[in-house]
Amino acid sequence: MNQRKRRELLWGGATASSQYEGAWNVGGKGLDTQDCRPYVPRTEVATTATRLLTPSTIARAKADALTDSGNYPFRRGSRGYEHLEEDIALLKELGLDIYRFSISWARLFPNGDEAEPNPEGLAYYDRVFAAVKAAGMKTFLTLTHYAMPLHLVEAYGGWTDRTLIDLYVRYARVVFERWGDQIDYYLPFNEINAGYFSPWNGVGLPKPEDGPYDQSLVFTSLHHQFVASARVIQMQREVAPAAQSGCMVAYFCYYPFTCSPEDNLKCTLDENVNQWYAVDVLARGYHPEYMDRFWAEHGVPVDVLDEDRVLFAQNTCDFVSFSYYTSSVVTTQEGEQTAGNLVVTTRNPYLKSSEWGWQIDPVGLRDALNRTWDRCRKPVMVCECGFGARDLVEEDGSIHDAYRIAYLRDHFEQIEEAVADGVDCLGFILWGVIDIVSAGSCEMGKRYGCVYVDADDEGNGTYARSKKDSFAWYHDFIEDYHRRFSETGGDPAAMLAR
Ligand code: BG6
Repeated sequence: MNQRKRRELLWGGATASSQYEGAWNVGGKGLDTQDCRPYVPRTEVATTATRLLTPSTIARAKADALTDSGNYPFRRGSRGYEHLEEDIALLKELGLDIYRFSISWARLFPNGDEAEPNPEGLAYYDRVFAAVKAAGMKTFLTLTHYAMPLHLVEAYGGWTDRTLIDLYVRYARVVFERWGDQIDYYLPFNEINAGYFSPWNGVGLPKPEDGPYDQSLVFTSLHHQFVASARVIQMQREVAPAAQSGCMVAYFCYYPFTCSPEDNLKCTLDENVNQWYAVDVLARGYHPEYMDRFWAEHGVPVDVLDEDRVLFAQNTCDFVSFSYYTSSVVTTQEGEQTAGNLVVTTRNPYLKSSEWGWQIDPVGLRDALNRTWDRCRKPVMVCECGFGARDLVEEDGSIHDAYRIAYLRDHFEQIEEAVADGVDCLGFILWGVIDIVSAGSCEMGKRYGCVYVDADDEGNGTYARSKKDSFAWYHDFIEDYHRRFSETGGDPAAMLAR
């Protein structure tokens, strides 16, 4: 059998600093972009209201920070800062092979442009790395998961300014010089294509008070993040050569609504711009021509320097990864709309949805893995996936999340199918393995975890941890997978047959 197909998948779990840590003003941490997002009760537009901050909402958030008032869920997270060792012990008990977490840029560089890092921030992440290592898990680090020091937004205009590239590489160098030998896999940026769906989260760009974003600022910022990614990979290969670098996009899994040529073409074009652009730059090493046409047609001037093109070509990442929650539908006609990760899409009549409207599509994951592998021929990691749901705590404290178990079981089957198709899959990372604040809607009530955190949208609760039914199920799945792998020598067909 082909050696490549024998890779034993890693099964993991993930959190992100801004959604998990809390402790927004502890240990010298600076105020960051996520700390400024207020809780807005969910209505039709709530997600947008709390995702696209304007100068006036930022001013209010800063004023509230001075008096520590208002409801800003990211300032609390899941209080992971206080529960760190307990949480890592739970992940060890869960049997994870790998833990994905992010460092808070503003905890290491409170303003983002200091010459030296904050010693208390270093000390905190020393504890994180030590705990993960002691638990025997591999480390998967995200250098930036949406949050950036607010000062960089105010003083530089966020990622619109090329200076951010140098400041970011300085931050990344500190990380690799200190912990590089403990990092197995890493991503310079979470869901880098989020920059143009959610510019505040993605590239630190406030929305003008009464109007839309200037798209040339959005795409210039994104291009600067691509340059920063390649520069970080270049630096990491000198400082910490053993670490494996990746790129990551939110995978939208587009289907044409009908088989009309127009729907199909729209599907291809949307997919290029929204999903593959970043992958083509970062994993395949070139700035794609379809973006030049898109920018020209939309009047979006962006400077791509010759030296940037050389940098991309010489510093492609080692693996490709994506978040996968749902699939999307594209049409040139009017269609009923539903929500999805970062985007609103046309409803797919063949699929059921979660309470948040995200359509459940395990088969799409097999398709995503095949298409990504075909396009890049680099190992593919499902670095985020999971089911956001409201959980009910029974009187005896148990939580029967059968819906989450069903979602995971169906998606895991499709991953094994994709491996049998020939995809070189590195592993699967369960999103929000411990309940965290939702990045899209700031809710604590939208939960992904196997571990429940007793807290609500207003921050009421003890923040105590408890295991849901999915905890035992995921534990047993991981154990069973590794047993099947060793019994079959990893032969995908034999694995599937058992
Ligand atoms: C991804 C992000 O977009 O989806 C995560 O990388 C986020 O940070 C996840 O939490 C799920 O989205 P949501 O809106 O349900 O939290």
